[in-house]
Amino acid sequence: MPKATHFPEAGETESLLKLITNRGAIEFDHEREGAWIEVIRKMDEVYSDLLRYEVDLEHKNAELEEAQAFVTNVIESVSDILIVCDAKGLVQQVNSAFQHTLGRGVADIVGKNIADVIDDADNTRLVPLLKPRSASDVVDGELRFSSEGGSSDLFAINSSPRHDHRGRFIGVVLTGRPIGELRRAYEALHKAHHELQRAQRQLVEQEKMASLGRLVAGVAHELNNPISFVYGNIHTLMRYRTAIVAYLDAVHGKGKAGDLAVQRKSLRIDEILEDFGPLIEGTMEGAVRISEIVKNLRRLSFSKLGEVERVNIERLINTAVLWAVRTKQVRIDLQIEVEPELWISGNEGQLHQVIVNLVENAIDAMRGTELPRLVVSAVRKGSEILFRISDNGPGIDKDHISHIFEPFFTTKRVGEGTGLGLWISYGIVREHGGELSATNGADGGATFSFTLPVA
Ligand SMILES: Nc1ncnc2c1ncn2[C@@H]1O[C@H](COP(=O)(O)OP(=O)(O)OP(=O)(O)O)[C@@H](O)[C@H]1O
Ligand SMILES: [Mg+2]
Repeated sequence: MPKATHFPEAGETESLLKLITNRGAIEFDHEREGAWIEVIRKMDEVYSDLLRYEVDLEHKNAELEEAQAFVTNVIESVSDILIVCDAKGLVQQVNSAFQHTLGRGVADIVGKNIADVIDDADNTRLVPLLKPRSASDVVDGELRFSSEGGSSDLFAINSSPRHDHRGRFIGVVLTGRPIGELRRAYEALHKAHHELQRAQRQLVEQEKMASLGRLVAGVAHELNNPISFVYGNIHTLMRYRTAIVAYLDAVHGKGKAGDLAVQRKSLRIDEILEDFGPLIEGTMEGAVRISEIVKNLRRLSFSKLGEVERVNIERLINTAVLWAVRTKQVRIDLQIEVEPELWISGNEGQLHQVIVNLVENAIDAMRGTELPRLVVSAVRKGSEILFRISDNGPGIDKDHISHIFEPFFTTKRVGEGTGLGLWISYGIVREHGGELSATNGADGGATFSFTLPVA
């Protein structure tokens, strides 16, 4: 700041004083002279105070200018937009990030109502941002501004209220950053996620259709055999019927007369009668096979648990294992390890079927094993019960292990297995909240295991 006035330096007033007293010594008496000296000393003091104040002021001013430059620099450097509004929504100050967003100079913005620079469609979003409220109440929102080239990108806005020293609401400070890019990325992600879900559903659907296809093909294959021999037998029986009718006509004298014995021979009546037994038996067997397959299919078509009850594991395992061992009529080294007083809630009949299936499979697998040994165990592991059925048979063939749970997969001879046992068991265990799995032991034998939640 340039100096406007010249104040005497500290020693200057002293010499001035001397000059006055020397020159006018004769005119002034001593008293007056003392008063003058006093006045001039005071003046000198005031001058030097003023001088000090001026220097101080200059310092303060320089500091203030520096602080202001610093604040301005900071505000201008932030990439977020900044808008200061008064209580009526009139713009008081903006930073260059906001000017840049609008493509307008500060003079073109300051003094305008904030509503005039935002996108018309966002007017309702502006209201809560300008609302008077307490100091700690920061409000979030989203706005688009009306810029030179149309509507701006979407901005995430924080609105902080301003208050004067008496605590009265005097406006808001809005800060914001563009989120259009983020929003677009999020939307793209959202879309991709949807696509993925749809593809997954489609895949599951395709897998379902494929396994349905396999099931239907299996059912067709299984039914084809007994149906074809029932069909063949019926054809033969129809041919036989014609011969028998002709012979009976001869017996009752309705047909052409002749030797009955010759007729009986030429119509092969005796062979026919002999064939009747096996034909009917075969047809019966075919019908039984068909009804068995249908029964199995109906059994596996349940998708619900049915009746749920409290099931005691010790009782379940003992009865199921004994049942399976008794029907298979074999001598095996049987070991049952079950913790007493374990309970689960489920359908006892279905769980019984699972254990029977697994034990029967193990017994079948150990047919060629010298000292067949079966271990069935159920132990509590936290909130679950782990079931294991282990045998010392040949184990599951490496190539088969991924197929054994498929419907109609069997390595047994026709009539010895339908290949539905494991598939049904898998479904039941899953309905009960578990997962049936199979592994081969390190020293041979197969182990089937699953866990179910404790009741
Ligand atoms: N403990 C086991 N050890 C070795 N292989 C096994 C064992 N259990 C099952 N398998 C294999 O899994 C196949 C499928 O078993 P699954 O119980 O589904 O049908 P299955 O026993 O052949 O016929 P079903 O049970 O309908 O009478 C069996 O044919 C057998 O090859
Ligand atoms: Mg089986």
